[in-house]
Amino acid sequence: MRTISPIGPEVACRRVRVNLGSRSYDIVVGAGAISLTGHELQRLGAGRPAAVLSNRGVLRRFGDALVRSLEGCGFEVQTLTVPPGEKSKNLRQVARIYDALGAAGFNRDGTLIALGGGVVGDLAGFVAGTYMRGIRLVQVPTTLLAQIDSGIGGKSAVNHPRAKNLIGVFHQPALVVADPDALRSLPPSELRFGLAEAVKYGMAMDRVLLEMLEGFTPKSLEEIVYRAAALKARVVEEDEFDLGAREVLNYGHTVGHAIEVALPGRFTHGAAVAIGMQVEARAAVRLGLLAEADAARQAALLERLGLPVMVPAGPPGPLLEAMQLDKKRRGGRIRCTLPEGIGRARLGVEVPDTLMEEVIMECQESSQAAAHPGGA
Ligand SMILES: NC(=O)c1ccc[n+]([C@@H]2O[C@H](COP(=O)([O-])OP(=O)(O)OC[C@H]3O[C@@H](n4cnc5c(N)ncnc54)[C@H](O)[C@@H]3O)[C@@H](O)[C@H]2O)c1
Ligand SMILES: [Zn+2]
Repeated sequence: MRTISPIGPEVACRRVRVNLGSRSYDIVVGAGAISLTGHELQRLGAGRPAAVLSNRGVLRRFGDALVRSLEGCGFEVQTLTVPPGEKSKNLRQVARIYDALGAAGFNRDGTLIALGGGVVGDLAGFVAGTYMRGIRLVQVPTTLLAQIDSGIGGKSAVNHPRAKNLIGVFHQPALVVADPDALRSLPPSELRFGLAEAVKYGMAMDRVLLEMLEGFTPKSLEEIVYRAAALKARVVEEDEFDLGAREVLNYGHTVGHAIEVALPGRFTHGAAVAIGMQVEARAAVRLGLLAEADAARQAALLERLGLPVMVPAGPPGPLLEAMQLDKKRRGGRIRCTLPEGIGRARLGVEVPDTLMEEVIMECQESSQAAAHPGGA
């Protein structure tokens, strides 16, 4: 897994292989990796036409390096942009992109390259999975969340007025290029939200990653990206189509999603997941899966990273209702992925409604127990 890339003389990258039979691919991780994209794509025997999907701000920062690398290897590149933000993840933008590709005579030889965060990655994934029944997709993720999570694994979706991510398709990329240098320009808040997902991987799958996060400095980002991307790769290999094992990635998300639904606009996804992990960790403590000290350790880490751990004061009703809605889809029970110690998780643990209510209240701003999660 830990190999130095043979190509691109000035840039040393490591590779993580995602083994999925004929759909296998590499995740290339390393500072400066964006400038290797052309070589990497050439190695795959990709045809000449390439389209880069991004937004203006991201394209301004990284477009040059990417396009130069592609053109240097003989690719014909067109760039397409969508406005930044979640509001672009819809079928209207998808149709616009189909039109642009069609107008340029883009055919099945073509490669669609996503340059940006999870929004651009999901849009490009959906388009690449459906245009002419599927064309080659490359992910060049530029947010931490996209480098360790959304850019890997082939799940893509756009939103529908009825629900987020309602319309989607599985379509694996042929290559992922994760350049940690790109994260330098990320607003601190976006970095924190990505770190929340990294804490999820640490708690649920990898004690060493958790320890790395406890000593987090911007310098350690490359190692964090490499390690977390490798964890995502293993999970995807085990469960390409999201039928079971990927559920390990749901830690913090049962409660996190409920927070996003019940308190719309109040927290970003990463912040909601941080609070969700703390509530779920308390549930794990109460169920005898996690030591009190480990829940406190997680809370200290999240706080050190600038992430919230407390549920806003107020009746827990709306949160529980949001989980009830979710629960309908899961056979009538609230189920969570819960940590069993640090670095291991148990999937599909049933959490009784009464216990969920109690741990939400324990984690509320007004509650003593939550203010001192390690205390008596
Ligand atoms: N497909 C999956 O498996 C999966 C998994 C998790 C999340 N997602 C999706 O990912 C999306 C969220 O992704 P996100 O958090 O990356 O948000 P995002 O794509 O909206 O990016 C966040 C912001 O950062 C900007 N940005 C990106 N890279 C930058 C850089 N290097 N420097 C400065 N600014 C930069 C973007 O333009 C945007 O404004 C959601 O739509 C979510 O549904 C998908
Ligand atoms: Zn998430």
